[in-house]
Amino acid sequence: TWTPSAFVDMTVADLKEKIGDDKVILGLSGGVDSTVAATLLHKAIGKNLHCIFVNNGLLRKNEFDSVLDQYKHMGLNVKGVDATDLFLDALHGVSDPEQKRKKIGNSFIEVFDDEASNVKDATFLAQGTIYPDVIESISVNGPSATIKSHHNVGGLPDFMKLKIVEPLRMLFKDEVRRVGAEMGIDSKLLGRHPFPGPGLAIRILGEITKEKVSILQEVDAIFIDALREWNLYDKVWQAGAILLPVNSVGVMGDERTYEKVVALRAVESTDGMTADWVDLPYNFLQKVSNQIINRVKGVNRVVYDISSKPPATIEWE
Ligand code: XMP
Repeated sequence: TWTPSAFVDMTVADLKEKIGDDKVILGLSGGVDSTVAATLLHKAIGKNLHCIFVNNGLLRKNEFDSVLDQYKHMGLNVKGVDATDLFLDALHGVSDPEQKRKKIGNSFIEVFDDEASNVKDATFLAQGTIYPDVIESISVNGPSATIKSHHNVGGLPDFMKLKIVEPLRMLFKDEVRRVGAEMGIDSKLLGRHPFPGPGLAIRILGEITKEKVSILQEVDAIFIDALREWNLYDKVWQAGAILLPVNSVGVMGDERTYEKVVALRAVESTDGMTADWVDLPYNFLQKVSNQIINRVKGVNRVVYDISSKPPATIEWE
């Protein structure tokens, strides 16, 4: 029978044997999969694992600094790279959702390739790929086609010439969490909601600006902190806020306002393929709505998304 401790022992031994004294590069995202993959590799090869954590400027409020700190406390050999301006410049004037994803994918490859080339003599690229990713990528694109399609001009980036190591490729998400817990990774980190790679870019409908990112970060932080305070965070599969591309009329004192609308979204799901909106308590929604409108300058209206998937998707873009 499969147990997390046997998996850890076996995988660490395999990784040691396969990698030897070679160097490995791994991109950390702040998510569960890449963190567990990195921890396994760290156990096997220590400082020869070189992690890169990129700030694309589209993460949650304070996420980059706090997660980077956490990684350092875990003893990982990690380099944080703040590439906010590069990503936001690439996204300037872009409003189409698929274009946003492409720009972000290309920018990530550009930054990652630069950083990876600073790690001399690396021979492996490690990834936190889990079993459902393997299935999806084979059925949709053929193996590894997703990354390649981003960067088929001028040959492959250097890091893609490395040998791939994917210690989690036979595991489902719940098994990844159990393996992480077995290795002592913080339960708060392991229980984090999924967060899309393109981050807040696909939760800001229409064009992205620095100002919109910071408005949405504030709104999102109020919502997520409140979910934690009310012990609702772990009952929800994924939650977040969306900045809508419309202004609405409001009143403040004697003044008429004309400001942004945000939507809150919280869903229950097992795999993201289908999802139901969560019946959050009215007094919770009331409190969160008041806090957002009182504290976040530029927002005067909050709505709650009561659509299930299908036919709606979890994200709005
Ligand atoms: P949808 O919106 O398709 O989302 O119902 C299902 C799950 O996938 C996440 N998602 C993404 N994750 N890159 C990602 O890494 C993306 O471009 C992307 N789009 C959606 C979404 O957050 C949800 O968990």
